[in-house]
Amino acid sequence: MACHLPGLPLHRDTAQLVFQTTVRVFVSTLLTISVLAADATQPALIPRPQKMELCAETFELTRATRIYADESARGVADYLAGKLRPATALPLRVAHTKEMASANGILLTTKGANTQLGPEGYELAVSSTSVVLRAQTAAGLFYGAQTLLQLLPVEIFAAHHVRKISWTLPGIRIADQPRFAWRGLMLDVSRHFFTKQEVKQLLDEMALLKLNTFHWHLVDDQGWRVEIKKYPKLTQMGAWRSDIGFGLDPKAATAYGADGRYGGFYTPSDIREVVAYAQARHITIVPEIEMPGHSAAALAAYPELSCSGATGRTNTPAGFQAGIYCAGKEETFEFLENILSEIMALFPGKYIHIGGDEVRKDNWSNCEQCQLRIKSEGLKNVPELQSYFIRRMEKFINGKGRTLIGWSEIRTGGLAQNAVVMDWIGGATEAAREGHDVVMTPKESCYFDFYQSEDRGTEPRAIGGFLPLDQVYAFEPIPADLAPQFHPHILGPQANVWTEYIPNFKQVEYMTFPRLSALAEVAWSPQAARNFEDFSRRLQQQNRRLDGLSVNYWRETWAKIGGWTPEQLTTTGTVMEWNVTKNVTNAGPQRVSFSQVEGADGVEIAWAALVEDGREISRDAHPGLAGGKSRDAIYTLDMAAPKPGGHYTLRARVSGMGGLDSRGNVNWNLRPAP
Ligand code: ACM
Ligand code: ZN
Repeated sequence: MACHLPGLPLHRDTAQLVFQTTVRVFVSTLLTISVLAADATQPALIPRPQKMELCAETFELTRATRIYADESARGVADYLAGKLRPATALPLRVAHTKEMASANGILLTTKGANTQLGPEGYELAVSSTSVVLRAQTAAGLFYGAQTLLQLLPVEIFAAHHVRKISWTLPGIRIADQPRFAWRGLMLDVSRHFFTKQEVKQLLDEMALLKLNTFHWHLVDDQGWRVEIKKYPKLTQMGAWRSDIGFGLDPKAATAYGADGRYGGFYTPSDIREVVAYAQARHITIVPEIEMPGHSAAALAAYPELSCSGATGRTNTPAGFQAGIYCAGKEETFEFLENILSEIMALFPGKYIHIGGDEVRKDNWSNCEQCQLRIKSEGLKNVPELQSYFIRRMEKFINGKGRTLIGWSEIRTGGLAQNAVVMDWIGGATEAAREGHDVVMTPKESCYFDFYQSEDRGTEPRAIGGFLPLDQVYAFEPIPADLAPQFHPHILGPQANVWTEYIPNFKQVEYMTFPRLSALAEVAWSPQAARNFEDFSRRLQQQNRRLDGLSVNYWRETWAKIGGWTPEQLTTTGTVMEWNVTKNVTNAGPQRVSFSQVEGADGVEIAWAALVEDGREISRDAHPGLAGGKSRDAIYTLDMAAPKPGGHYTLRARVSGMGGLDSRGNVNWNLRPAP
């Protein structure tokens, strides 16, 4: 189907007229993409746009191509040109729309934008003679520019000139806007420290995916990472510890001071630089200053603010304890308010995160001053003291025109009035019903410090858990039990990268990708347009873009070779067989896994064997379980040397349990055994 796009008009007013008409017809008649299955003819855009329509024509970037922008679009136009030039080596001069020529131009404008697409939406139309990107705001243009980049061959992301490529965009019309306003990523820089250059790199990687909120976890028990002028000891002492900690190899990190201690921090000028860098990418930074718990690093420097007055930290990783400020001392509040004043001067965003999670309140129970506070404020108990603490901080933050945000536990003992809840262990539905805004970061869908595969033998050590790519992709941020009138309180999803076991930036990337690509689609694309098979197709291209950008990412290590169905199962056991001829390619141990996809009751595996031309050549006879209580479901089979032309099968004895309702996959490991 042809798109019937007009060429670039000579005059802006005409341009507006023609394009407004086009846009209205387009938006009102175009249906949301109805082909949901993996369709290789569709461009590999992540996140998938709300509406798009392909046409037969194409637009090619050449030496003559110009980028035209009005004043409000100039910043994005320069950004786009900067992204297009290295790989294409084309001049791509940026000019004002006043100089607009009739053909071979890329127009970026905020004029005549479709207001139905909201503050972050955009429209992109590519014809044989022009590219027109229109949005109400620079943010919308920025997201349109990301889409434009993804429409080009993946080599556009290379850092150097790539020859012999035709830099062609497919003819297309896109009308797009995000599903959620909060599309977040959190990085913990306390457990391990990442430099400002690394943080900027991560912001660039977020920008590719149209993410707009970077939650910077600057403070925790293991390190204080932001210089506070009024309290220099916070970083002089709190930013450094004796060694890397967490039982990790010291050589896995480079964040060491001249004296060999592990750590680091950001100066105010570093912070301003990163904030500006984020703003240029339409990313808001939400700083987090943890309180009242997770504060051992601060209390190592200022122990007088703890209940006992003694430091909760001996400055060795083994000495780290969950430090908690005394809620009875006025000095605690004065200290934290002074810190937050400096933080608010550095970070212009609306939200200030105060942590509030995992507060171990034993000290408060045993502290005379905390008990006095409970009495003088008419509180019932220690949980209400936590609530008092948060409310008091909220009053201060609100007084400065900002909004407090905190983890699930800020609901303990009653929630502060305007507070926003970041749900990691529940409470979203209740908070939204009470009128609070909520950011969704449930552990089981959003914790990117969890393992990405069950292949623990070859994965780098992680904190635990298991969060595979498809589980991130399946995440639905709106709680199922939340009535529609409260849905607007769900601001959006966020991925969290906690770094206890992530000592360097390459590993941050490995844990973040490709799961962040899945989360970006959850955050941006319409729920009805989500399809994991199609996402997986597009992800292959996305990963090639990451290759061009030298971003490290996790790769699939298991290939499905077959499966079982409920119909095949008996309680006494069935010998099943799957062809693995094309999987047996080299000598050495071969590994297979059994994983249930559906069912309540699971299967037992008695043994698995490798069969060569009908003859069993190796067997692993340990008992395994696949299903809810999955255990030991990986089998290792020896292979001395594959026989050329040999026919191989995997054989296994599988019995169904209980209701014989299990359906599952058998997978072949693509990596050599450790
Ligand atoms: C958290 O994971 N403690 C918020
Ligand atoms: Zn106390």
